[in-house]
Amino acid sequence: MAGAGHIRTLLVAAVLAVGISACATRSDSPAPAPVDDAVYRALGGQTGIEGIVDDLLDVVVEDERINFQFALANIVRLRGMLILQFCSVSGGPCRYDGLSMEEAHAGRGITTAQFNALVENLILVMERRGVPVATQNRLLRRLAPMHGDVVGP
Ligand code: HEM
Repeated sequence: MAGAGHIRTLLVAAVLAVGISACATRSDSPAPAPVDDAVYRALGGQTGIEGIVDDLLDVVVEDERINFQFALANIVRLRGMLILQFCSVSGGPCRYDGLSMEEAHAGRGITTAQFNALVENLILVMERRGVPVATQNRLLRRLAPMHGDVVGP
């Protein structure tokens, strides 16, 4: 499982490096593009995301590679903020209004190994909940750019 998580982490980095080209827009169509909530729906909407976050927190508190980082955390707030953030990044009808990723993680000494452990746990819970791999990857691709703000001294 650790191997699979590692390979997926590398895949996310590779996809990011390639980048995503923007859609062409027609100058004679002024209506804004509709929000693409396909990932939100594929995650099971609000109920699905709440389940993923609950399972993720359960796995994290048992994971000795990273649980010490959460020893003083306000888990109720963290749960609410993670639900909002996953909803928002997956195109759901939420607006994340918590701390920036830089503010939330500054000074915690989070390493790339710890970041990867969290990603591995997220893959594990999505896998257990039957989230299709393509949907897993689409969510991970949107979280991966946060690496630079989460990892640091
Ligand atoms: C993509 C990866 C990650 C995401 C999306 C993420 C997201 C978040 C969010 C939304 C918050 C709440 C901010 C707020 O309270 O306003 C938070 C806080 C926090 N995160 Fe992360 N995080 C990530 C990675 C990590 C990692 C790898 C660790 C440590 C191993 C970590 C440890 C913490 C801690 C300790 C807090 C503060 C909790 C508290 O004091 O209440 N995070 N994170």
